[in-house]
Amino acid sequence: MRIDILTILPRLLDGPFADSILERAQQRGLCEIHLHNIRDYSTDKHKGVDDYQFGGGAGMVMMIQPIADCIDTLRGQRNYDEVIYLTPDGSRLGQHMCNELSLKANLILVCGHYKGIDQRLRDHYVTREISIGDYVLSGGELAAAVLTDSIVRLIPGVMNDETSALTDSFQDDLLAPPVYTRPADYKGWKVPEVLTSGNARRIEEWRMEQAILKTQERRPDLLSNT
Ligand code: ADE
Repeated sequence: MRIDILTILPRLLDGPFADSILERAQQRGLCEIHLHNIRDYSTDKHKGVDDYQFGGGAGMVMMIQPIADCIDTLRGQRNYDEVIYLTPDGSRLGQHMCNELSLKANLILVCGHYKGIDQRLRDHYVTREISIGDYVLSGGELAAAVLTDSIVRLIPGVMNDETSALTDSFQDDLLAPPVYTRPADYKGWKVPEVLTSGNARRIEEWRMEQAILKTQERRPDLLSNT
């Protein structure tokens, strides 16, 4: 998978992809992440990327030209499955969408700032608009990092234990059950007996029961999805 991220703040995204699972995914050649500074594509003599909005009102709008030129350049090099704009008024990101996007080959992510991007980009270039939650960030970069992390970890071979992504919360519309590690007794707080029983079937049943209980208690809305 290849992900191209268009941003006016590329340095903000240097960190999240340089460590741990995302670093390893890139080193193993399972995914490529490329950052593009939108400003580099501006034909404006001051390298401007934003301007006042037509009709007046507070807040700047990101101009169509630099972003359109950057997308055109990338599209001239390969086909893209989606051009995704990160925006609080997009469709809410969830595990099912992450699963779907992890199967794509090439994605472009566009990070907005200020009042957002010129509507004509959304009308003519963007194929999908995604929000990571009902709150407003100061730009799309952190949302792009969240989206990238949530999909790259699902690419086969990225996680060491292939099954671990399958047992994440939400994968089957259930929250994950509690987990424990050594010691089995810490100051009298004991690990549930079943987990040290060695009985694989009982352990599986206990985990499923716990997952259902936790989901009923915290996220009953998930149970009505099925
Ligand atoms: N940009 C600003 N806030 C955002 C959000 N909640 N989701 C995606 N992109 C955003």
